[in-house]
Amino acid sequence: MEHESDFLVIGSGVAGLLFALKVADHGSVTIVTKKNISESNTAYAQGGIASVIAQTDSFDAHVQDTLASGDGICNKRVVEMVVRGAPERIQELIDLGVQFNRKRGNSKDLAGLDLDLCREGGHSHNRIVHADDLTGRAVEEALVDRVMSHKQITLFENNIAIDLLTRSTRLQRGMIVTTHEDYCYGAYVLDRNTNEINTFCAKTIVLATGGAGKVYMYTSNPDIATGDGIAMAYRTGATVANMEFVQFHPTCLYHPDAKNFLISEAVRGDGAILINTDGKPFMENYSPLKDLACRDVVARAIDAELKKRGDEFVFLDITHKNADFIKTRFPNLYEKCLNFGIDMTADPIPVVPAAHYMCGGVATDINGRTNIQRLFAIGETACTGLHGANRLASNSLLEALVYANNAAIQAIKDHQNVEFETSPQLPPWDDLGAIDSDEVIMVTHSWNAIRRMMWNYVGIVRSDKRLERATRRVEMIRDEINEYYWDFKITPDLIELRNITTVAELIIRCARHRKESRGLHYNIAYPEKDDRKWNKDTVLRRPFVG
Ligand code: FAD
Ligand code: SIN
Repeated sequence: MEHESDFLVIGSGVAGLLFALKVADHGSVTIVTKKNISESNTAYAQGGIASVIAQTDSFDAHVQDTLASGDGICNKRVVEMVVRGAPERIQELIDLGVQFNRKRGNSKDLAGLDLDLCREGGHSHNRIVHADDLTGRAVEEALVDRVMSHKQITLFENNIAIDLLTRSTRLQRGMIVTTHEDYCYGAYVLDRNTNEINTFCAKTIVLATGGAGKVYMYTSNPDIATGDGIAMAYRTGATVANMEFVQFHPTCLYHPDAKNFLISEAVRGDGAILINTDGKPFMENYSPLKDLACRDVVARAIDAELKKRGDEFVFLDITHKNADFIKTRFPNLYEKCLNFGIDMTADPIPVVPAAHYMCGGVATDINGRTNIQRLFAIGETACTGLHGANRLASNSLLEALVYANNAAIQAIKDHQNVEFETSPQLPPWDDLGAIDSDEVIMVTHSWNAIRRMMWNYVGIVRSDKRLERATRRVEMIRDEINEYYWDFKITPDLIELRNITTVAELIIRCARHRKESRGLHYNIAYPEKDDRKWNKDTVLRRPFVG
C-alpha cells in the first residue's frame, strides 16, 4: 500500500512531535513510529532542559560551558543560536501545557518566569528547568496530547521504517541502490500489526528517530534506541559525523533486576557525592570540579576506580541531605530505588556508567537539512555541531526543541516550492522468495555479540588493539547479517540488528580514524588532545553505487 502526505515524520519523541505540530497547519502530516507514540528516549529524560533563565546567569556563560564540554570542536555559531533560542522554546512548552517546577516565593527571573532551576555537571549556573525528576515524560505527554487531537496529523504506531526512498531507488533483491545528487521522497515501512511493508511518500521527510544506546550491552536507553535513522541515512548516502563520541552516563543503577535505570545527574547537582565501596570520596583525585565535572571526566574516573579496585560498582551518596528534601525533589527516583530495596535517604545507591547519548549522527545544517534534498534530521539522530566531543548535560532536549523549530520553518518555506512527486518508478517492496525463518537464534546471537563486543572493545577507554579486534568482529557479523537479511522474511528484530551493526561499524571507523583523545573519545595509544591535527569533525559518507 502507498501512503502520501506533505510531511513524513519518522519518530515520535520530542523532536518529531514538535516538528509535526509546527508544520501541521501548512499541510498533511504523517508520523510513523515503531512502538506506541510515547515510547522514546524523551519519555525517560529525568534532569531537565538547560536554559538561561536566572537573573544571575547569561547567554555567554551557557555558551562557554557548552564549548568547554565540547572540548574544542563545537560549532560556535550553532552553540550561540541554540543557547539564545532556549528561553523561547521553554515558554512554548509552558504554553503547550508542560508543568515545570516553580520556585518557592514569587521572585521573577530573566524571562519574567518563576521557574525552579537546578544544576548539573559542567554548568556554571543553575539553569536546568525541570518537571520533578521526570521532565521528559511531562514534555512527551503534553506534545502527545496536542498531536493526537490535530486533524492534519495521521499517526501510524507500531510501524518501523526500514529504509529511505530516493529518486534513484531501485531494488535489487531488496537492496537499495542510490546515486548522488539525489533527493528523498519517502520510506519503506514495516507494519508490525500486519507484517506488510508499505511505502510512505512525502514532499519533506524528517528523521527524528533518536539515539543508539542499544549498540552497547549496558545503556540508560529504552529498547527503541537502535540508531535506525543514522543507519538508514548512511545507507542512502547522507553524511554522518562524529560517531566516536558516545556519551556514557556516570550513574546508572547497579542492581540485578534493574534494566536501564538512570540516576539523574541532578542528584549530584543537589549535593550527592560519589564514594568507593570503602565509603571514600574519589572525584577530588580526578577533577577540581569534583562530582560536578563534565560527564566524560566522571565516567572515566569511575571506570578507573572500578579497574583499580576490582569493584563492580561505586556508590552515589546523598544521605547527608534532609530526607524530606530528597523525597520532594526526586519523587520518582526515591520510589524506584525503594522498589529495588534501596532507601536513598538512608543508603548510598550502587551505580555504574552506561551508554547514554550519541553526540554524532546525521550531519545537518543550522535548519536540520541533510546533504540529501528534502531529508531533514533532528534531535538525537542528528549531528548539528552543538555538542562537539561531549554533550553538556540537559542540552539534548534543548537541541531537539530548537532544531524542530528551525526545521519546521525551513520545511514550510521549502514546501511551497516543491512539486509533489509520486513515485511512478517505485517498485513495491519485493520479498518474494523470502521465507519465514525459524533461525531466530541467529538474530539473538548476533545482537548479543555486537553489544558485548562494543562494550568490551569500544567503551569508555579504547585502544588501537581493541579497535582493530572490534573491526574484524563487526565486519564478520555484518557480512553474516547481509547474507541472512536478503534470504529471510524481514522482522523488526532483523531490521534493528542490521541497524545496530551499521551504527557499531560507524562508531568503530570514526574511533579508529581519530588518533588523539578528546572529549568522550579516549584512546590509551594517544592519551593527549592534538589540536594541530584533530581539531575537526570526523565525517563519513557511503561510497555511491549505480
Ligand atoms: P527519542 O525521544 O528517542 O524519539 C525517537 C523516536 O523514534 C521514538 O518514538 C522511536 O520509537 C522512533 N523510532 C526510532 N526508530 C524508528 C524507526 N525505524 N521507525 C519508526 N520509528 C522509529 N536529555 C536532556 O536534555 N535532559 C535530560 O534530563 C535527559 N535525561 C535523559 C534520561 C534518560 C534515561 C535518557 C535515555 C536520555 C536522557 N536525555 C536527556 C537525552 C534525551 O532524552 C534524548 O536525547 C532526547 O529525548 C531525544 O529526543 P528525540 O526526539 O531525538 O528521540
Ligand atoms: C540526567 O538527568 O542525568 C540526564 C541529563 C542528560 O542526559 O542531559
